[in-house]
Amino acid sequence: MVTRAARTALAVDPDGEHEHLQLTTLAGWHGFVAEVPAVPDLLPEATWAALENDKRARYDDDRIDHHSRLLVVQTPAIRQVINSGRRLIQMNKNAHYGRCGLMVSGPARTGKTTALTQLGKTIEVIHRRRYPRSTGDIPVIYITVPPAATPKMIAMEFARFFDLPVSRRGNITDIADAVCGVSLDAHVTLVAVDELHNLNTTTRAGAEVSDTLKYFSKRIPATFVYAGISLERTGLLSGTRGEQIAGRFSMVRTGPFGQDQQWAALIAALEASLRLHRHQPETLTKLGRYLHQRTHGMIGSLLWLIRGAAINAVLDGTEKITRKSLDAVEADITSQSPLPPAT
Ligand SMILES: Nc1ncnc2c1ncn2[C@@H]1O[C@H](COP(=O)(O)OP(=O)(O)OP(=O)(O)O)[C@@H](O)[C@H]1O
Ligand SMILES: [Mg+2]
Repeated sequence: MVTRAARTALAVDPDGEHEHLQLTTLAGWHGFVAEVPAVPDLLPEATWAALENDKRARYDDDRIDHHSRLLVVQTPAIRQVINSGRRLIQMNKNAHYGRCGLMVSGPARTGKTTALTQLGKTIEVIHRRRYPRSTGDIPVIYITVPPAATPKMIAMEFARFFDLPVSRRGNITDIADAVCGVSLDAHVTLVAVDELHNLNTTTRAGAEVSDTLKYFSKRIPATFVYAGISLERTGLLSGTRGEQIAGRFSMVRTGPFGQDQQWAALIAALEASLRLHRHQPETLTKLGRYLHQRTHGMIGSLLWLIRGAAINAVLDGTEKITRKSLDAVEADITSQSPLPPAT
């Protein structure tokens, strides 16, 4: 069965208009996979100085846009998630039962979603390269667990990703059948389930949702990858049901960076991606210790700080990041709180 979204999604819009779409829909996901963010070139000094107002405004807008994203740095966590995910997919290929899965667990804003979506993107790109004619295939599904989820809500999340025409009043068996049917036809190989901490298996509803996910993972011959905050504490891995899950899942933990070589490499990669006219190279790498203190080594807080300072530098015309300009960026809430608990 070809879904409505599948028919339209591959006609990717060149203007990046998909960006407003959510990753949890096929169209939004395809937009994300096809996205190759254009990094603006810095104009030579004389050309920059001679720009007319409207051209300068457009040039600045492009750079603000770039600095609001910067780049995805290949951190050890991302490498580990991609390598483990690819290995599991390979191992699961010929397994008729007892397929293995992966969990990505860590405190808030430590890059779980980024790692999960980068894995999904990698798998989809490989699939498209390997099977260029199978344009109707949907190799990757990405869904999130809604707060206070019920089994039916999970089934609806799958259906919504495929844009299946199901009514809220439809019963869960029919929705699950439709979802599994499309998944088989579309050769789904990876199912990424994010925000799994919304599921609390110590409650009855949570336990039922966990069973629903297990049911889907039995019926859909794909590799399931879960991400969420401190998954050990959701009760997902405890009790009989939990033991069954734990026995078959690898775990990648995300967490704060230490003040080490990896921290320095992360900052250097971010600094190299800046597009500012007056920025002194190595300013940020030399501020490694300061940046660690301000962010507690949390990648989300670091990105918040550097993106904020870089956008300010374009807006106020200083065109550089300094210790002083970093001081002026308000910290995000995570980095203002006490050190995050270890997972
Ligand atoms: N490898 C990376 N390179 C560049 N930026 C990153 C990287 N990992 C995370 N970020 C940035 O850090 C922020 C937090 O990342 P992300 O949303 O992936 O974390 P999370 O652990 O899923 O957070 P939450 O617990 O809120 O779901 C985002 O702005 C993201 O762009
Ligand atoms: Mg997340």
